[in-house]
Amino acid sequence: MISPLLILFSSFFYHVALAGRTCPKPDDLPFAIVSPLKTSYEPGDQIVYTCQPGYVSHGNMRRFTCPFTGLWPINTLRCRPRVCPFAGILENGAVRYTSFEYPNTISFSCNAGFYLNGTNSAKCTEEGKWSPDLPVCAPMTCPLPPTPKFAELSAYKSLAGNRTLYGNRAVFKCLPHYAMFGNDTVTCTASGNWTELPECKEVKCPFPSRPDNGFVNYAAKEVLYYKDKATFGCHDTFVLDGPEEVECTKYGNWSAQPSCKASCKISVKKATVIYEGERVKIQEKFKNGMLHGQKVSFFCKNKEKKCSYTEDAQCIDGTFEIPKCFKEHSSLAFWKTDASDVKPC
Ligand SMILES: *[C@@H]1O[C@H](CO)[C@@H](O)[C@H](O)[C@H]1NC(C)=O
Ligand SMILES: *[C@@H]1O[C@H](CO)[C@@H](O)[C@H](O)[C@H]1NC(C)=O
Ligand SMILES: *[C@@H]1O[C@H](CO)[C@@H](O)[C@H](O)[C@H]1NC(C)=O
Ligand SMILES: *[C@@H]1O[C@H](CO)[C@@H](O)[C@H](O)[C@H]1NC(C)=O
Ligand SMILES: *[C@@H]1O[C@H](CO)[C@@H](O)[C@H](O)[C@H]1NC(C)=O
Repeated sequence: MISPLLILFSSFFYHVALAGRTCPKPDDLPFAIVSPLKTSYEPGDQIVYTCQPGYVSHGNMRRFTCPFTGLWPINTLRCRPRVCPFAGILENGAVRYTSFEYPNTISFSCNAGFYLNGTNSAKCTEEGKWSPDLPVCAPMTCPLPPTPKFAELSAYKSLAGNRTLYGNRAVFKCLPHYAMFGNDTVTCTASGNWTELPECKEVKCPFPSRPDNGFVNYAAKEVLYYKDKATFGCHDTFVLDGPEEVECTKYGNWSAQPSCKASCKISVKKATVIYEGERVKIQEKFKNGMLHGQKVSFFCKNKEKKCSYTEDAQCIDGTFEIPKCFKEHSSLAFWKTDASDVKPC
């Protein structure tokens, strides 16, 4: 049974509604949704504002009823984007971003020697979470380097499973008789591979030949290999030109080819010369001849200026040329002064 009062009340209400003014389509609010959305509302109709997914507001919801005046009340709702957790730091890498708000995307890169384990970008979702999960920059590693033929690994610092970090080195050594071509040191690169490996090649040298007027000694072996040595010497008055010891090089030749050079006979009977900074009598100092390479300075006269100067002479493989300006002093010409006693120019 319906109460007469209720009938009375509802008819009154109906009247008033008819008498009130309709509300217009409500104002658009950025990132908000109005429900239900219509072009006009009867007084008493209700609408609800909610923020779009990814946007939030304090309270997050506003409910309004269309008043008799037909004017919606002032709506202070503000929908703001959700903010994802701070993602500005990626260890050993970099994050590029404009903001951490929905619906922005941020991107990642790793420093040299590190690689991205994960995706190179992530989006701030409606729920305010990064998707996919943030990546990490993992250090680049290299596997154990392959050992070149005829070589052995002489230095290597490894992690678990024999891998090593970017920038680390491995050093190779060739087996005996083998010479290295390339760098003995390889480096683990930022791309996780190794720099170019060296090569080891077997190297033999021919037997060294005996120099004229001298001798050569080397190990009594069938074959001479890389790094084997030979020593040279010369007979009596001959002098070795070159090192005493030579080595078989990686090119299959000897590091040098020493030879024996003859000494010189002195063709002047008497002269004062300078040898190693001292005045000496050539006939006494070099009684037994001058060795290859030895050098003296002769005194010569400048007649016009009445002074003396020196000129060098060197024994080169049996040849010793006396400077042309030198005049041998005759013991008969006793009134003449020897050039070595004349004041220097
Ligand atoms: C990448 O990271 C995941 C966990 O974050 C880990 O399980 C996986 O082994 C990593 N992959 C590589 C290749 O390092
Ligand atoms: C690492 O390398 C060494 C030498 O090449 C080898 O003896 C060892 O078995 C390796 N270990 C692993 C875990 O691969
Ligand atoms: C060999 O490589 C290392 C680094 O990889 C470098 O420092 C060195 O200078 C190289 N040696 C030669 C002889 O090229
Ligand atoms: C190492 O890897 C990079 C990138 O994959 C490649 O460009 C380079 O040629 C490789 N280096 C060697 C020595 O294999
Ligand atoms: C040995 O051979 C190399 C390469 O052919 C050459 O450069 C070098 O000069 C030679 N050395 C000698 C001492 O002949």
